[in-house]
Amino acid sequence: MTTPTMTRRGALLSTLGAAARLRAQQAPPKTDLDRLLSVYDVEADAHTKISPGAWERIAGGAADEITLKWNREAYDHIRLKPRVLVDVSKLDTRVRLFGAELPFPIVLAPTGGQGLIMPQGDLAAVRGAGAANATYVISSSAGMKIEDIAKAATGPTWFLLYVQKDRGFTRDLVQRAEDIGCRAICVTVDSPTFALRNREQRASGQLPARQLPNLPSPNYLDPALTWKDIEWLQGFARRPVVLKGILNPDDAAVAVKTGVAGIIVSNHGARNLDTVPATIDALPLVVEKVAGRVPVLVDGGIRRGTDILKALALGAAAVQIGRPYLWGLGVAGEAGIARVVEILRKEFEFAMALTGRPTIASIDRSVIW
Ligand code: FNR
Repeated sequence: MTTPTMTRRGALLSTLGAAARLRAQQAPPKTDLDRLLSVYDVEADAHTKISPGAWERIAGGAADEITLKWNREAYDHIRLKPRVLVDVSKLDTRVRLFGAELPFPIVLAPTGGQGLIMPQGDLAAVRGAGAANATYVISSSAGMKIEDIAKAATGPTWFLLYVQKDRGFTRDLVQRAEDIGCRAICVTVDSPTFALRNREQRASGQLPARQLPNLPSPNYLDPALTWKDIEWLQGFARRPVVLKGILNPDDAAVAVKTGVAGIIVSNHGARNLDTVPATIDALPLVVEKVAGRVPVLVDGGIRRGTDILKALALGAAAVQIGRPYLWGLGVAGEAGIARVVEILRKEFEFAMALTGRPTIASIDRSVIW
């Protein structure tokens, strides 16, 4: 039986409950982006804003995350060798890649999960890239139609292709990417199978099913993919074909022989095979084998402008960043992404000035101690 006192108490509790529910629904407090001074500050702020399940998916690596740790540590162990009394009053960070000029050598890598970070996250991400004047790689595994993402783009885009078992479908997908203006076709070549990601597996209950509107099924990897398929793709692609996920210099040699336009040294953000080397350790071997015949890009663990300088010194034509811009997205949507790129650009310019390297061409191995 309910007494009047109990009813009043119940009403009070339900009011308190409603207030708590309302607080939970409210957006987290806005971040003053100027107070985020490094990509690590953005990461810390993003951790308070991104849902725990999405956080684990973004942050996690393969298995024991040993390569994830190496991707970072390897940069920290490289020491710089500055020159003094060089005129660095004017810095030129422009690079040419695949027939176009980029104002600075930072590209936003293909990632998934933008939609887990915020509704319509794919649109905010491509807009953020445009605001930052950075090239954005639209993934075939994006959570929205690639045509809709391209419509929101205000800057250059490339496309990330997962070759499908249905090669006719693949051909159409490439043509769609070209029709929406993507300037390069990057192909993931390091994923014949889905990876063992224990951290992500543990959090999987907290995540909704993935939306893959551009792919025929969630089982979108083709374990039978070979160099023959790359040749086939080059037979009809109207844009430069770039292979993403090369670590072994012998594969780089085959890639060049196959006639690809570029190579991205990547270990998939340490999310695929644990205990492969840090990408910055693989880069010089690949660069040596490629011997200047095609541009080599690198990604994985780049968190500072000095990392970009080191990558270029070891032969990269440009770098890609993955998690850092997802953190920016989590902090403040497109403005957060623009802030991440701004931080890295500024840091890269500082690194150029303080090592006495005013142009991209002047960044060579002599800047490594
Ligand atoms: C990725 N990456 C990736 N790469 C790829 O070829 N196909 C893909 O579908 C994805 N998906 C994906 C999702 C998430 C959540 C992350 C964080 C990364 C890898 C990505 O393109 C890039 O190689 C790494 O993110 C670079 O390393 P950092 O900058 O994240 O350390």
